[in-house]
Amino acid sequence: MKHLLSLEKLPLADLEKILRDAVIFKRERARLDRRPLANQTWALMFSKSSTRTRVSFETGIRELGGQVMFLSANDMQLGRGEPIKDTARVLGRMIHGAVIRTFAQGEVEEFAEFSGIPTINALTDDEHPCQILADIFTFKELRGPISGKVVTFVGDGACNVPRSWIWAAAKLGFELRIAAPKKFQPPAEVLERAGLRSDGAASPGALAKILCTDDVEKAARGADVLYTDVWVSMGLEAEAAARLRALRGYQINSKLVKLAKADALVMHCLPAYRGKEIDEETFEANARTIFTQAENRLHVQKAVLSWAVA
Ligand code: CP
Ligand code: NVA
Repeated sequence: MKHLLSLEKLPLADLEKILRDAVIFKRERARLDRRPLANQTWALMFSKSSTRTRVSFETGIRELGGQVMFLSANDMQLGRGEPIKDTARVLGRMIHGAVIRTFAQGEVEEFAEFSGIPTINALTDDEHPCQILADIFTFKELRGPISGKVVTFVGDGACNVPRSWIWAAAKLGFELRIAAPKKFQPPAEVLERAGLRSDGAASPGALAKILCTDDVEKAARGADVLYTDVWVSMGLEAEAAARLRALRGYQINSKLVKLAKADALVMHCLPAYRGKEIDEETFEANARTIFTQAENRLHVQKAVLSWAVA
């Protein structure tokens, strides 16, 4: 039984296979007649909003021959307190796979354990593995191999997206720089699990080179990618005002872009809030890359789904 619960737990060989298969799914979309989900019904069970993840998974499951249902967690008994493990045992007797977007990482793990069906993390507070797989796919498509390159994340360095980038860096051997105020840098225990000291320096033998700094200009200098995400992740709305104040200097704008390599990619997982994590001019100048990233969710997730049922 295969699950994609996190990039942390995804073996490197599986990660590489998914990225390879995604190339074929993208290139052959109109012609490919692979139907690995034929006669299967999958559920998307979401406790948080979504545009890209929902549409790309619903489309991908259908294109792979499966049926799909969307379950808003609030409309389920789950929203009235039915335990996740009971929900998992019910769904596991009826459907063939689940794609889950929720808060606690433990919930997708518990669902996988109790459902007995392939389970895919469509975003938790800890990780957004499908997003980062699509981002790496996009980098490779536009610029070639990512190993040895410099990816600079600017903004809320403690949220799910940069945390998944940490695991990607640890496995794929590129340099990751996270530019964020101290309070918004990744938790020390995550860095330690990735084989790094809490100041971001690599422990002996660690593959990753990860720098956490509050010096955004230092982080941007010579980067191959400048990447950002919202300053206020879903579930943290009560902290919005304080976050907007604290993160004000951590914006991708033309001044920062000038410090990166001349052919650097500006990437954003979306949704984007202009004037906050990125300015309008920089966003629009890089819209082609950013919306290719969004499109690539579909192709990469079809590779994830095929891998999960193989
Ligand atoms: N990037 C991303 O996951 O977008 P959605 O929240 O719209 O799914
Ligand atoms: N960090 C963001 C990602 C949105 C796709 C959030 O969790 O809301």
